[in-house]
Amino acid sequence: MTNDDRLFLVTGATGKTGSSTIHLLLQRGHRVRAMVHREDERSRSLAEAGAEVVVSDFHDLDGVTAALQGVAGAYLCYPISPGLIEATTYFAQAATEAGVRSVVNMSQISARREAGSNAARQHWLCERLLDRTDMLTTHLRPTFFAEWLKLWWELRDGAGYLRLPFGEGRHAPIASVDQAHVIAAVLIDPESHDRAVYTLHGPVELNHHDIARAMSGTLGIPVHYEPISVEEFASAMAERGMPAHRIQHLSNVAVDYQNGVFAGTNDNIEKIGHRTPLSVEQFVNENKPDFDTSGPYFVPAP
Ligand SMILES: NC(=O)c1ccc[n+]([C@@H]2O[C@H](COP(=O)([O-])OP(=O)(O)OC[C@H]3O[C@@H](n4cnc5c(N)ncnc54)[C@H](OP(=O)(O)O)[C@@H]3O)[C@@H](O)[C@H]2O)c1
Repeated sequence: MTNDDRLFLVTGATGKTGSSTIHLLLQRGHRVRAMVHREDERSRSLAEAGAEVVVSDFHDLDGVTAALQGVAGAYLCYPISPGLIEATTYFAQAATEAGVRSVVNMSQISARREAGSNAARQHWLCERLLDRTDMLTTHLRPTFFAEWLKLWWELRDGAGYLRLPFGEGRHAPIASVDQAHVIAAVLIDPESHDRAVYTLHGPVELNHHDIARAMSGTLGIPVHYEPISVEEFASAMAERGMPAHRIQHLSNVAVDYQNGVFAGTNDNIEKIGHRTPLSVEQFVNENKPDFDTSGPYFVPAP
């Protein structure tokens, strides 16, 4: 428990990093306001855990302004959807008016001026926009989340398949719960992280053949990685009804991935979040039931 009575706002509160961050802050005795997109089972469970729940769309300036009243520090987490620049602009203005002292901004490892992905370039622009405010700003640039393994997972005839356009590229999958430890730590103690840009990685850099092997060892079934072209991936995503903005993003980050943009590992989770990040084996083991069926986006074999 803590005597600290500062209020923290977590946006994207029902999402992967947001919900884990809220639970951590509450466990440590902090006051948390959760900005949710809609009321549902997920928002009710945040309220039951002790968060103050407010409903607002990122694109509702008055709603975001109300959500930021009395807030000391905020986690800004916008999904891969159109509108990131408008949402960040509204957030920056409303947070400045409300006197919010610090913001932890979810960005991504591929964020850069010359990014081919619209979302990645917009993340880079939004980092720069937030750096122009008076707030203490910290930008998080994770590599691909471990959670994504669930989305592309296919279970067929007792074997698992990952059919993805990642070639022989490598990354160290990072679980959202591990990122939450960094987000919470920076919210609680933002001064030393001002204007920092942190890449976040899991503990072990792997290619997708290695990932398939790690999953196979944990699940006890054969798991195969089948590299596919970006074109096959994009058309399969379109057939599954994925929005065009996300397909544009994923197609371009697939090329980035093959070129090493998502590679690397570091000790930011330990150093900042004081947490040992989950390996692929540990993540899969903790989420076993999710691999009992195929994920929503797997690319079927031709
Ligand atoms: N996944 C990866 O591998 C990866 C890697 C690096 C960086 N990132 C970054 O991570 C971020 C996503 O984080 P996440 O995975 O923790 O989030 P997430 O699970 O995708 O959740 C997004 C949250 O935002 C809410 N939301 C969506 N549209 C909204 C709107 N218009 N107004 C208010 N709330 C809205 C959603 O609520 P509803 O569900 O109710 O709509 C949900 O709670 C993105 O910025 C992405 O670039 C992801």
